[in-house]
Amino acid sequence: MEVRAAGARPFSTVLPAGTTGAQLGRGVTVCVRALPSSTSTSVSSAIPSYEEGELERPRYAGDDPVSRFVSSLIAIKPLFNVMKVAARQVLIGTAEKNGVSWRGMSDEILASDVYAEKELVENKSVVYPDYYLQEFHAYEEGNLSWKAASEVAPATLSMMLRAIPTAQSPAEASQILRGGWLQAINDHHDMHSGGLGVSTVLDVGCSIGESTRALADWFPSAHVTGLDLSPYFLAVAQHMEKQRAAAGVESARRISWVHANGECTGLPAASFDVVSLAFVIHECPQSAIRGLLKEAFRILKPGGTVALTDNSPKSKIIQNLPPAIFTLMKSTEPWMDEYFTFDLDGEMEKIGFSNVKSILTDPRHRTVTGTVPSH
Ligand SMILES: C[S@@+](CC[C@H](N)C(=O)[O-])C[C@H]1O[C@@H](n2cnc3c(N)ncnc32)[C@H](O)[C@@H]1O
Repeated sequence: MEVRAAGARPFSTVLPAGTTGAQLGRGVTVCVRALPSSTSTSVSSAIPSYEEGELERPRYAGDDPVSRFVSSLIAIKPLFNVMKVAARQVLIGTAEKNGVSWRGMSDEILASDVYAEKELVENKSVVYPDYYLQEFHAYEEGNLSWKAASEVAPATLSMMLRAIPTAQSPAEASQILRGGWLQAINDHHDMHSGGLGVSTVLDVGCSIGESTRALADWFPSAHVTGLDLSPYFLAVAQHMEKQRAAAGVESARRISWVHANGECTGLPAASFDVVSLAFVIHECPQSAIRGLLKEAFRILKPGGTVALTDNSPKSKIIQNLPPAIFTLMKSTEPWMDEYFTFDLDGEMEKIGFSNVKSILTDPRHRTVTGTVPSH
């Protein structure tokens, strides 16, 4: 099923069967807001402005006393064990309240033939960085398990619904959140690439491929590569892609998957027009964020665009989150303090990116874009 407004570009989002709020079936295409005409002077005109808070970053993240107090609570093992269960319940509750069947979606993946895909997509020579082997998102094995992989889709919808509380449905939340990010990439590339087209896109930290599919739909002439460190997530991505290809979905033919570390991809230098990292870097220590940025710089063509979308330290909503919610969030996100204290724009400039800019592309998230200079 396709829902599209005049002048809008479509992208894919996966919604569970029977998603009541959305009234849409699986694998639907939903519309995003209308694009401005593609000129070299368009300035994010289709992205609404969202409110910033008064602080540089939320009080509960970083190195000030309140933040350190929160972190010291999380470090107490019995408290941590209670918090991570509560954090998970918040996500599941949001999903279920909005008609997303968390258990149903997860069971569907676990009962499928996804397991064979892991054998096909896994690169056994990948070495996992230490930060990736820690407990994460309340999963003891972090992103390296079938349980985590099977729950990514409902967890992503829940995250989107929490980010866009005014959304009437999961589809609308996805439309606003993904639409702002894609529009920001589009605007930046139009303005700064010097006429470089978009025929090759890399989606670093693609997880189960939802951002990859959105990129493939947005850039209809591009081949899009989804890259991730979790072979379990990539197995789900590939399993879903095979279903989409069998159903005749055009963009499925333009997508491929790579199991690698985004800090050392092994991909050729200067080979991509756009490199995107959507919701990846808040899950990484600062050393890894630097590594990811340097690798993006290496593999982008001159004129190419890097885009990072993630929690904004300046978002008024994030700054005003109730302390209890922020503490629960921090309990399952071990690198939150490092993320919120990282000078992303400054580090990008140090690495060599030009035209670095950051805008709120939904109430909670910023998209930071930059260009690899042509000379
Ligand atoms: C929240 S998910 C990204 C979601 C996805 N991009 C989207 O927008 O739906 C973060 C992903 O980053 C991946 N990741 C973390 N560190 C990575 C690294 N160094 N290289 C590649 N992937 C990494 C994780 O495995 C995880 O799948």
